[in-house]
Amino acid sequence: MDNSSQSETQAIQNTGLRGVTIASTKISDVDGAVGKLVYRGYLAKDLAGKVSFEEVVYLLLYEKLPGEEELGQLKKRLASERTLPDELTDALRTRPKDALPMDILQAAVAMLAHHDPDAKEHSRDAALRIAIRLIAKFPTIVAAWERIRNNKRPLEPNPELDHAANFLYMLTGVIPDEETAGFFDTCLVLHAEHSFNASTFAAREVASTKAHMYASVAAGVGSLSGALHGGANTRVMQMLLEIGSVDNVENYVDNTLASGGVIMGLGHAVYQTDDPRAHILAPMSQKLGKRAGEGKWYDLSVQLEKVAKKAFKNKKGKEIYVNVDFYSATVYYYMGIPADQFTPIFAISRIAGWAAHVIEEQFAEAAPKPALYRPESDYVGEYCGPEECLFEPIEDR
Ligand SMILES: CC(C)(COP(=O)(O)OP(=O)(O)OC[C@H]1O[C@@H](n2cnc3c(N)ncnc32)[C@H](O)[C@@H]1OP(=O)(O)O)[C@@H](O)C(=O)NCCC(=O)NCCS
Repeated sequence: MDNSSQSETQAIQNTGLRGVTIASTKISDVDGAVGKLVYRGYLAKDLAGKVSFEEVVYLLLYEKLPGEEELGQLKKRLASERTLPDELTDALRTRPKDALPMDILQAAVAMLAHHDPDAKEHSRDAALRIAIRLIAKFPTIVAAWERIRNNKRPLEPNPELDHAANFLYMLTGVIPDEETAGFFDTCLVLHAEHSFNASTFAAREVASTKAHMYASVAAGVGSLSGALHGGANTRVMQMLLEIGSVDNVENYVDNTLASGGVIMGLGHAVYQTDDPRAHILAPMSQKLGKRAGEGKWYDLSVQLEKVAKKAFKNKKGKEIYVNVDFYSATVYYYMGIPADQFTPIFAISRIAGWAAHVIEEQFAEAAPKPALYRPESDYVGEYCGPEECLFEPIEDR
């Protein structure tokens, strides 16, 4: 390689594939310019508060909203698949209590493959069965880990309860009131799918190799755990707790922006306007705060949004907007959920989207069919002069 082509490659910008269309999908669409999120043709904001998470699961997996009988059958199947293999619960008991919940979830997904003969069958039907199992079991894993790390016995799922209420019950041991369960259900609806975000792309990339659903979803969980992706909701709450009071907001924003830090829950790779989901989550946070007699965290968020948007505009000369994590953090906090479980809760919902994408990646019936992902990279590493380096055995180096 000559020096001129080396310097050419150094000019390549790492854009993180922003604006590059890499596949076709029928599952969802995000219009970042106007703040539109669509699940199989329906606006997510129209579904929120009107359909259950189970209906969204049906929509994403079976490509239409269910009728009553179809929904009833899906709920029954989910309820029958919630229990974990004993070996998995036993394995969770052996984990260090300070292990990160997303690491636990990722490991649990991989372990579930060991117990499922469908993992060895490459077919659409098998993938759908695994999808239902994973959607059913995610809440059980997350709740079991919360209880195990607090030296409590994991609770059996309650077959009488729907997906959202059952999770809160397994987490806390208390059957939630209707409003709390409804709000949590809406959170699940809003987080279920978001086109080719980092974790979905990770899951699809693995699926494109024809690896099974468990391997693909485990990759998605790993990707979601990152601070710049799903991990942001945990960090939003940690930031609010650190700020502590509305009076400290100005200082926090000034110091963070001056030191080149990021305000968690603001900014998005696609939206150039407020994330439509944030506008549904904010009133829920406000209501839960009022009900808890602790409006402080909601008020602090509102003030932080206002101050940070203004300061960002002054500093960068452009707007910044709230994303889904900004207000979901206080919604979960008001529900009494520990901050480091916010990202696993995101996963409890997003598993529906990941599963739909893995199935589309592997079994899409219509053209254009997906292909194995294999992008190019530009080598900007060293050569020994104009030529490749001559290998030297270890004793001569
Ligand atoms: C999500 C995120 C990674 C998108 O980043 P991006 O695509 O680079 O966003 P932009 O291109 O609009 O960023 C432009 C500039 O604004 C800055 N910026 C973006 N979000 C910011 C934030 N939340 N706080 C402070 N500065 C921010 C970037 O650092 C960049 O600065 P630079 O031009 O000096 O390099 C980024 O907004 C972020 O880190 N947000 C906080 C984490 C978060 O909430 N993630 C959840 C996303 S759903």
